[in-house]
Amino acid sequence: MLIAGNWKLFKGPREAREFCGALAAAVDTSGIEVAVCPPFVSLAAALEGVRGSAVQVFAQSVHWAETGAFTGEVSAAMLAEVGVAGAIVGHSERRQYFGETDETVARRSEAALAAGLRVIACVGETLAERDGSRVEEVLRRQTAAIADAVGPHANLVVAYEPVWAIGTGRTASPEQAQEAHAIIRDILDVPILYGGSVKAENAPVLLAQPDVDGALVGGAALEVTSFAGICAAARAVA
Ligand code: PGA
Repeated sequence: MLIAGNWKLFKGPREAREFCGALAAAVDTSGIEVAVCPPFVSLAAALEGVRGSAVQVFAQSVHWAETGAFTGEVSAAMLAEVGVAGAIVGHSERRQYFGETDETVARRSEAALAAGLRVIACVGETLAERDGSRVEEVLRRQTAAIADAVGPHANLVVAYEPVWAIGTGRTASPEQAQEAHAIIRDILDVPILYGGSVKAENAPVLLAQPDVDGALVGGAALEVTSFAGICAAARAVA
């Protein structure tokens, strides 16, 4: 069971260090894995904050090239050198706003895994796709692109994040999550996280689904109390 907090564009270095220190003191990691995913500039500070605890630090993206003319990008080797454990790849906000495609998600995943990092690769349908009964088709296509590139790698985790549930307060029902996770697992048998408006209140029922192996948390990961509450819910079902 992995609970990962995706901070998105929140928390600079000072806040990251403080938050991670407080989180490390508040969270019980026995039987589960806990990770935070700060912006690039806050990774080193977050690592200082979690030092001495089992809380892991992941980046929010990673480039596929080792070096080169790729302004604004960061390589897997650079992340490994800083000491992060892994990276999120292909979050729907990157697909939606920064031109991420199934192909770039596959390339980023491949490079990160080759460098020894763990990867949380994100998939998920939009509301229009769900309304158009295209959930299975979309999940199969997105997951197959990752599976074709890296297979069921030991350091790979997939996150199912229905786009309509992200930051909306609208969560997939436990049945919808379970159904989607089963489709993904049929193609790629790795741990599968659910993401989209996860909170301490709805975490127990979502995490209790047989194919839900953890959560990728956005908004509720920005406060120690709410994030630690989700981690406690994970411990209860782990
Ligand atoms: P949310 O974000 O928990 O705020 O819905 C989840 C995510 O985007 O990873």
